[in-house]
Amino acid sequence: MSLAVSDVRELVSHPEYLERASELSLDDGSLLADLAILKTECGEVSRAVVEVVKARRSVAGKLPQWWVHHALLSSDAAQQSTPYAVAWLRAQRLAGHFGGGPAELNAVGVHDVTCSIGTEVAALMEAGLDVVGSDLDEARVLMARHNVPGATFAVADALQPMAMPESLVGEDKRIIVADPARRASGRRIAKPEDLLPPLPDLVSAWDGHDMAIKCAPGLDFSEWDGEVAVTSVDGGVKEACLYTPRLALDGLTGGRARRSAWILKDVSADGVAVSITRYDDTMDDDCGSGAAGRFIIDPDGAVVRAGLVRHFATKHGLWQLDERIAHVTGDALPAGVSGFEVLEQVSLKQVRKALAARGCTSVEILVRGVDVNPDVLRKQWKLKSKGSSRNSQSSLAVVITRIGKTATAFICDSRQWG
Ligand SMILES: C[S@@+](CC[C@H](N)C(=O)[O-])C[C@H]1O[C@@H](n2cnc3c(N)ncnc32)[C@H](O)[C@@H]1O
Repeated sequence: MSLAVSDVRELVSHPEYLERASELSLDDGSLLADLAILKTECGEVSRAVVEVVKARRSVAGKLPQWWVHHALLSSDAAQQSTPYAVAWLRAQRLAGHFGGGPAELNAVGVHDVTCSIGTEVAALMEAGLDVVGSDLDEARVLMARHNVPGATFAVADALQPMAMPESLVGEDKRIIVADPARRASGRRIAKPEDLLPPLPDLVSAWDGHDMAIKCAPGLDFSEWDGEVAVTSVDGGVKEACLYTPRLALDGLTGGRARRSAWILKDVSADGVAVSITRYDDTMDDDCGSGAAGRFIIDPDGAVVRAGLVRHFATKHGLWQLDERIAHVTGDALPAGVSGFEVLEQVSLKQVRKALAARGCTSVEILVRGVDVNPDVLRKQWKLKSKGSSRNSQSSLAVVITRIGKTATAFICDSRQWG
């Protein structure tokens, strides 16, 4: 659900409505009764009150605590918002281009042209940058004003740069941040032109500006002439951000990076990742391939999506099982990386027997390069129920991968961490 401008105005003037609703459980069992209470106490705006309180609860762990208790947001906006740890990282990175960054950039501020409820603007301000946010949706701009006091916001079309008063941010010297909407009626978008606003239109509207554009990681970015930075949080890939060439970072081993992976872990209550690991395409990638070592590792999705599997493997003294498949192998697990100790290698047909022989009752299944459905396989394997076998290794993993043209399965111990 989204909120109307009138709803947001009413909620800004009556914070007590939200405080009252936050005391109610608002779950499926109580919602009708809770709504009746709120209708009496808050009147017409009661549905909007419920919407905001539920949306606040949905961003726990994704946005800092302040947002969970005080922000104005709808469920749509909450779902679309950038995880704060990712916004924070982008903001810190952009801050590196001011005062001490590449001299030719000479930027004076950052303009988030699809600011929604202001998550990115908050992170950019926290990084000490002069920032302005704009969005086509007036209700969201009003919410952003509430959420990020002190920042400048305006209702504006991201495709019409001149609509932004020059006084807000130096017209030609702002860095543009954009996060086009990625879903239309619940569908995932496959083409950059289907984004809202469409990516090609956005880029041509801001031609000549330095830009950071957040996109879904599944789009094809092979033509992008800058850096594509893929970021994951706690193992889940969140975004691919396209940086125009002058915003591309110096690579870890020299030159400018064109592809990078950022692995964020251990997000604190204020929304910042305690652990940040980076790989990029300036690193060596001559890992080679060969037979399985002691462990098999399925690299973090950010590494895979950024096309940096070989760079990751080389860095950690690992090698590929097959040059075209992302599973890598080695004799030790890198620190902070999970993997599976190999017990035996069998054909796909032999997996059921091998699991049964080990008394396996639950299995984690990893598949790459083979067209099989893990849920269907799990049913076919008919694992024994717990306690039916003595001395069993109840929890195991099966890594199914393609080596050359052959589907191969590795029976492994359960996931462990280096
Ligand atoms: C994915 S959301 C942005 C989320 C935001 N980065 C955050 O972290 O909360 C996309 C936003 O783009 C806005 N939008 C869509 N088309 C636009 C346009 N032509 N001009 C400005 N904003 C637009 C939508 O209203 C929506 O708020």
